[in-house]
Amino acid sequence: MSDPHAHKDDQSLSPHKEHANLPRGYRILAGHPSIPEYLALRRQAGGLSPKTAIQAEKAMGGSWYAAYIVSTKANPDATQHLNESQADLMNRNEGETAVAMARVIGDGGWYFHIIDFAVLPKHQRKGLGQALMADILNRIRKEAPPGAYVNLIANDKGQALYGKFGFKEPVGDLGMELRMEYPEGAGPDDEKIPRVDETRAG
Ligand SMILES: CC(C)(COP(=O)(O)OP(=O)(O)OC[C@H]1O[C@@H](n2cnc3c(N)ncnc32)[C@H](O)[C@@H]1OP(=O)(O)O)[C@@H](O)C(=O)NCCC(=O)NCCS
Repeated sequence: MSDPHAHKDDQSLSPHKEHANLPRGYRILAGHPSIPEYLALRRQAGGLSPKTAIQAEKAMGGSWYAAYIVSTKANPDATQHLNESQADLMNRNEGETAVAMARVIGDGGWYFHIIDFAVLPKHQRKGLGQALMADILNRIRKEAPPGAYVNLIANDKGQALYGKFGFKEPVGDLGMELRMEYPEGAGPDDEKIPRVDETRAG
């Protein structure tokens, strides 16, 4: 496998200075939504495959960073504006619901992979995706040593959003994937997939 870092040093992070103001009625928080919210966001945003609660639980344990946006419908004055700052670490308020999320898995040194980018349909095209991306890139800039390599897989909807932040098609390299099937009778609609620790215990 080629080392993507070897020839993309200076292109890995866009020089674009991110800033994103959330529209009124939303707050961005560092961390993950609840597991049911995570599953619902993946199911309902459109275009993402459904996952099981077991997958969600383990996935969240493996994040390098995550952020999500809540609707503050119950308290619209609580809108938070991001201005090159990190996501708010404040606790979730009563009545706020998760409407968007994104996660980063990474080694903290140089490799960062952005995943789980999802905004509920009713809340799309309001700048929430942009706010999440700005927050994630600010976090990487702040925490990672210079020269980070950030990548993601973009579908049609995502391409224009990510392009605004300087993401480009890799030159010369080809993304490859391997999808492992669920065991027969198991899958996102049930919880028959054994936990890894239970499998090992046997
Ligand atoms: C892709 C997604 C995360 C974008 O989130 P969003 O909050 O709607 O994005 P924003 O409002 O911040 O949009 C920022 C820019 O991205 C582009 N964009 C966003 N949605 C788009 C769409 N459906 N079609 C074309 N461009 C789009 C536009 O350039 C937009 O700027 P504009 O509204 O000023 O024209 C959201 O559509 C989503 O969750 N889709 C379903 C799940 C998914 O596909 N995830 C991404 C996997 S790669």
